[in-house]
Amino acid sequence: MLFNLFRRNKKREHPYAHLPVPEKPDWSVLGADMHSHFLPGIDDGAKNNADTVALLKGMEQMGFTHLITTPHTMIDHHPNTTHTIRAAHDVALSLIKEHGIKLDLRAASEYYIDDHFTKLLATEPLLTIQKNEVLVEFSMMFEPPILAQTLFNMQASGYKPIIAHPERYLFFHKNYDKYQELKDRGCYLQLNLLAITGYYGQHIKAIADRLLDEGMYDYCGSDAHNERHVGALAGLACSPDYHRIANYPFRNKTLTGR
Ligand SMILES: [Fe+2]
Repeated sequence: MLFNLFRRNKKREHPYAHLPVPEKPDWSVLGADMHSHFLPGIDDGAKNNADTVALLKGMEQMGFTHLITTPHTMIDHHPNTTHTIRAAHDVALSLIKEHGIKLDLRAASEYYIDDHFTKLLATEPLLTIQKNEVLVEFSMMFEPPILAQTLFNMQASGYKPIIAHPERYLFFHKNYDKYQELKDRGCYLQLNLLAITGYYGQHIKAIADRLLDEGMYDYCGSDAHNERHVGALAGLACSPDYHRIANYPFRNKTLTGR
């Protein structure tokens, strides 16, 4: 038992443990966030224009300069289309101008993998994070039977899937090899930053810690829907874990043109 205790403690140490904890939240090291729900009134994120303004100001104050916001495209709950997303993006851009917010705000989508997505993929261009990269999510409880085929179809259509929050898919937890399999299939993996704080539960944090420590992630994102999420992100920036994020080679910087 003592041995286990020692092993656990030893595992928690990381090479940045000696660095001072920042006093003020500053995510300028990332520059860009590529997963959020900031467009007004079209999904379970910002409810209205006032919410959008508050969330964007919060991100600006934490040093983000570029946001690719990603409303859900999920036919059962948030039946967005390229048209609804572009229209809400236009509203957000006018709010940015009106309120003097200094952010480069682009819009893509977080596509939910289901039969509707299969149809979309076959019939119209998808909104991309950049180049050919498309953010996708799927059920957190059950592995969709069409997952492998859909990821293959996306690549056959010239897209590179970015798997949103892989740490949150419970059925992968006991099948850790699946993560490498997704990477071998050519997918990028995107960490939800709040997973590291334990926001989604300790078992999800444990998987996120392991994926991070093993260098499995490609992007990180806030997946912020509301001010509580933005506040928690500020908390992470002022915690010892900040340095684990700041020193990890996330691809987010490629979104800023830096
Ligand atoms: Fe999301």
